[in-house]
Amino acid sequence: MILFSQLMEIELLNKKMSDKKEKKIENDLMEKIVSLCKRRGFIFPGSEIYGGLAGTYDWGHFGLALKNNIKNSWWKKFVDSRRDMYGLDAAILMRQEVWQKAGHVENFADPMVECGVCKNRWRLDVLDQIGAKNNDGTYRCPTMIASKIKDGKNENCPGKLSEPRQFNMMFQTKIGASEDSSSVSYLRPETAQGIFVNFKNTVDAFHPKLPFGIAQIGKAFRNEITPRDFIFRVREFEQMEIEYFVRAEDWEKYFEYWKDEMEEWMEEVGIDMNKVHDINIAKEDLAHYSKRTTDFEFEYPFGQKELCGLAYRTDFDLKNHGLEYVDEENKEKMTPHVIEPSFGLGRAVLAVLLSAYTKDEKDGEIRAYLKLRPNVAPVICAVSPLLKNKPELVEYANTKVFAPLKTEFGRVIWDDNGNIGKRYRRQDEIGTPFCIVVDFDTLEDNTVTVRDRDTGAQERVKVEELKNYLKNKIN
Ligand code: GAP
Repeated sequence: MILFSQLMEIELLNKKMSDKKEKKIENDLMEKIVSLCKRRGFIFPGSEIYGGLAGTYDWGHFGLALKNNIKNSWWKKFVDSRRDMYGLDAAILMRQEVWQKAGHVENFADPMVECGVCKNRWRLDVLDQIGAKNNDGTYRCPTMIASKIKDGKNENCPGKLSEPRQFNMMFQTKIGASEDSSSVSYLRPETAQGIFVNFKNTVDAFHPKLPFGIAQIGKAFRNEITPRDFIFRVREFEQMEIEYFVRAEDWEKYFEYWKDEMEEWMEEVGIDMNKVHDINIAKEDLAHYSKRTTDFEFEYPFGQKELCGLAYRTDFDLKNHGLEYVDEENKEKMTPHVIEPSFGLGRAVLAVLLSAYTKDEKDGEIRAYLKLRPNVAPVICAVSPLLKNKPELVEYANTKVFAPLKTEFGRVIWDDNGNIGKRYRRQDEIGTPFCIVVDFDTLEDNTVTVRDRDTGAQERVKVEELKNYLKNKIN
């Protein structure tokens, strides 16, 4: 039922957009990205062979490589290259008290309405977005009934929508064989709480001085009523979060500091910063734990929407968990305040893909390719023998070029299918910055052709210098 409603919703959206040419181009872009991701092994719909499971996606070889590169770049910048940051990988399942104390059992909810006939549930803001609001301010059920056709179109469900009620988005589960309320647990809806509950452990183990941070990358789960827009709003996703602990009087200084750091990282992974806008969230829209939040919104083809956020969580969480910090020098006891830079990994991947998608004309042909930065590209270089039926070329390419580069960089693939032009197009499409070809001259002078994805320029490089050549280009 949910899947059906999602499909109907997309159809409704598409119908609205079709009037506007500009919107159509943007919609096309989204379709192209979704199709490229499936065709080229980046991202697949979850449980697809059984009809799909809305709000879930599976990551294929290239998507996983892209995601891991983005993750690694985040960890390198925010953990490995700093002296004030500690890593963590906490359990997803935690005791229910964590979520009670954190306020999520009570507050982690979206207003939602339910249709009396089709029983589909809708978030109010989604009904606004897809134009399901009547002139008198009430809403109509946007589900279309596939079996009922009027004037060549599916008819809308006639059901009345309920009054809005709060729908808690945490996935509840039971731990162990017992069915009583003490066995209730939740799949974490944010990684942040794993950090807060390990605050004392981290302080006791590492004795950090304020300010310091704890960083974590991991899965989060939200029972979104209306998952949508590919990997933008899903039910299972990854977050990359930092809780940065500061003295209360310093929060504004560090809030500004982290804003700059977040922007710097987005640029480093190739997100088009002309399409990123920082928006201060109005007081009435703040999450229950936040006193100030700035969202970084990206111009996705389906609208300008949140990519990541920066929140001032005050001492809300540490206080609720009854946690304190003792300054080891002057024995002062206090509760630090928290600045929280929070990133959704999937949303970052989508913004990187959309920023990288480029069209140009090459050799009289329009080519579409991913202009991914080498630091995030799933493949750094592809190695090809000019002809795959010439054993001497294949042998040279395999042993003297491919094998050593594969050992050095890992992200190297062998590509000998079709003619060279086709191989270049195939690599361009997945964003491979360099293609290396071993030809007959290679056998004479130990040089290969290296072709640059963006310019199409080719140069001869000595085989013994290839590793350094690539290192210089990708750093
Ligand atoms: N700990 C703070 C927190 O969780 P949030 O704004 O609710 O704040 C942080 O989520 C980030 O997680 C968002 O900026 C977004 O990138 C990502 N995110 C949230 N819900 C998501 C969903 N349903 N699908 C994909 N990403 C999501």
